[in-house]
Amino acid sequence: MKFLYSLSFLLGADNWKIEPTPQEVTGSLEGFARDNTIILDLGCGDGYHSLTLAKDGWNVIGVDYVPLAVRRARRAARKAGLAQQADFMVGDVCQLGVLALPAVDFAYDIGCFHLLDTQQAEEYIRGLANVMKSGGLFLLKAFTPRPQGKKTVGYESEEIGQLFSPFFTVEKTSNRSYWRFPARWYWMMRK
Ligand SMILES: C[S@@+](CC[C@H](N)C(=O)[O-])C[C@H]1O[C@@H](n2cnc3c(N)ncnc32)[C@H](O)[C@@H]1O
Repeated sequence: MKFLYSLSFLLGADNWKIEPTPQEVTGSLEGFARDNTIILDLGCGDGYHSLTLAKDGWNVIGVDYVPLAVRRARRAARKAGLAQQADFMVGDVCQLGVLALPAVDFAYDIGCFHLLDTQQAEEYIRGLANVMKSGGLFLLKAFTPRPQGKKTVGYESEEIGQLFSPFFTVEKTSNRSYWRFPARWYWMMRK
């Protein structure tokens, strides 16, 4: 997958972006305070959503394993004078432990988690749980199941609930397509 994502960024085929940044993300931040909230953007790509939030006064850390995407995100942050509020790291979301992240209040993932295999998904969840504060909010946008070649990609709500249940409680879901595919938002509270 990393190769395919890298190629997509290289060829400009990274047309998965939802523009503008979804209300589900911005609206979920109501109730948080800008001055003491750390936001984590998992699979941040070129940093579009992180930068939207940084422009609005939030402190965001974006993580993506494609160096080209992270370089673009950093460049855009510098150009916008937002390098203090938006920090971008090259890293694997399944290995968050090696990134020495600060404690996170709010995290979101738009389109990254749903293509991980089960082992990666478990590592992702453990790593995320370790960096998130108790009571913190995690917002996930993930495909619902559909056939793709010989495989099925995406998750049912029950599977998401079960995978995350050691560390998170699903509080709310909302069906909303992603690209041209069926998908769902999940709001989860860190236990
Ligand atoms: C569909 S794109 C979405 C990008 C961004 N969230 C957005 O909405 O514009 C998925 C992103 O997740 C990143 N990604 C996928 N698996 C990853 C992993 N294991 N670690 C870090 N980044 C990953 C890809 O490089 C890509 O940038």
